[in-house]
Amino acid sequence: MTDFLDLAVGIAREAGDMLIAKRPARPEAVETKSSMTDVVTALDRASEELIRDRVRAARPGDAILGEEGGETGGEVTGEGRVRWIVDPIDGTVNFMYGLPDWAVSIAVEVDGEVVAGVVNVVPRGELFAARKGGGAELLRAGLPAMPLRCNEAVPLSQALIATGFGYQPGRRAVQAEVLTHVLPKVRDIRRGGSCASDLCSVAAGRVDGYYERGPQYWDFAAGGLIAVEAGAMIGGLRGRPYNPGMTVCATPGLFEELQDLLAPLDPERDA
Ligand code: IPD
Ligand code: CA
Ligand code: CA
Repeated sequence: MTDFLDLAVGIAREAGDMLIAKRPARPEAVETKSSMTDVVTALDRASEELIRDRVRAARPGDAILGEEGGETGGEVTGEGRVRWIVDPIDGTVNFMYGLPDWAVSIAVEVDGEVVAGVVNVVPRGELFAARKGGGAELLRAGLPAMPLRCNEAVPLSQALIATGFGYQPGRRAVQAEVLTHVLPKVRDIRRGGSCASDLCSVAAGRVDGYYERGPQYWDFAAGGLIAVEAGAMIGGLRGRPYNPGMTVCATPGLFEELQDLLAPLDPERDA
């Protein structure tokens, strides 16, 4: 039987190595998507192609949901329905500008449940990995694997919170308004530029929590498992599961406080 995590780690490493080798001094956008600021580079596509090729070679019957190529394939076998969730570069704007927070994100789902997740934050030389029920680890070349644990018992007033902004001006206007209510209540805010990397930062205790309206399944599927396996909670507002409307992730206690702060602000709207 395939070890999904080992396979995903190998593929995420190969895609990351390709991106570092081929990244020009200033990658250019080849297309815009939902708005002028939502860009795709040739290497987003090349990374997804490489990942799709490797998954198909190893597991020809599996479904693949990728940000750039949509959903393809998918057979149900004795193992169930296996689906790979791929963001070939999460943090494309950072990738273009040469900022270090961009990642290859790959999750593997069996019958709708994420069982393995890998976030390869390539410029940092950090690969975050988790297996459902098996904990989360940080892997770095030449160093022993480091088990990940999120911060515990952090009150909202002392919490360092990561967030992000969408690409639509009307969404950003509301996100900015919500932020004016959040910022005075917390230690500080970070906007790293990669949802997958932000969730790994929760797992590693580099931030205490994260919330964002808008990220898609390929943004948070792998990082979400990594954060949960490191002891964090992830969900939407008012008891809903995490979803593109709103994703909140934090250590228990802070998770509820953050939800209680956000929910009355009606943050799941666009101007
Ligand atoms: C984006 C990043 C960013 C988040 C956006 C995402 P992309 O993904 O994760 O941090 O704020 O919501 O769309 O476009 O770089 O793959
Ligand atoms: Ca993304
Ligand atoms: Ca992307």
